[in-house]
Amino acid sequence: MLTLADLDVFIHTSHILRRVSLEVGAREVVCLVGRNGSGKTTTLRTIMGSLRPAAGRVEFRGKPIHGRRTHEIARLGLGWAPEDSGIFPDLTVAENIEIATWTRPGGRPAAERIDLAYSVFPVLHRYRARKGPEMSGGERKMLSIARTLALDPEMLLLDEPFEGLAPAIIPAVSAGVAAITKLGRAILIAESNIHHVPEYTTRLYVIERGEIVFGGPPDDAWRDATVTRIIGGAPRPTPPSRSPLQ
Ligand SMILES: Nc1ncnc2c1ncn2[C@@H]1O[C@H](COP(=O)(O)OP(=O)(O)O)[C@@H](O)[C@H]1O
Ligand SMILES: [Mg+2]
Repeated sequence: MLTLADLDVFIHTSHILRRVSLEVGAREVVCLVGRNGSGKTTTLRTIMGSLRPAAGRVEFRGKPIHGRRTHEIARLGLGWAPEDSGIFPDLTVAENIEIATWTRPGGRPAAERIDLAYSVFPVLHRYRARKGPEMSGGERKMLSIARTLALDPEMLLLDEPFEGLAPAIIPAVSAGVAAITKLGRAILIAESNIHHVPEYTTRLYVIERGEIVFGGPPDDAWRDATVTRIIGGAPRPTPPSRSPLQ
């Protein structure tokens, strides 16, 4: 569904991404893991067209999208939940979700998309009238993901959805992300903490200094010497359980 092939990206004169290749298939949950500054956000920004690759290709549903503008890429069905959540602090939860349905018109009716957004994070319904500053970090992350879903995308790009969250909140956010995969949407997650990689991840990539140093099933990553050296992959407390797709 999404293919990055040999991407080279520069910011000013710095060579940030080096021959980055990765693949996200339909209904997959793919995690791009790497330390802070390794190039995860740059990868997502390149997919969304806010950075132009100097070399390489980005293809979405079989068509090249590199060089297109962000709003065109969004219209093709890629939804982006940025690291800083991107929600409008002066608007309520309900308004933030509703506005997303205007941003990408067409397709499913707005009411259906709004229902979809609340269906993955039912707790947001209770906070419909709240504004950004009255919400906890976890609620803001949920809202950010929910409003991305209200765009009705085929694929969601989630930048650090679990960052800064209290450990007790992470399962609720993770369950919402799992619910999105059950709706048949593909997801690409950028994550700096390997321990936050959801157990339903179907494929994992590790990025280090702008280069992909591992790509494969998550089970293999925990055994990979390069991965454990880079991100300190202590054995996970529980083995990966069933994928939500099964
Ligand atoms: N606007 C920018 N100007 C200069 N350097 C940048 C800019 N954005 C990112 N970088 C650099 O690119 C590298 C990768 O950053 P980023 O993709 O944000 O990493 P990550 O999301 O993995 O933490 C870092 O070294 C960062 O300093
Ligand atoms: Mg980042």
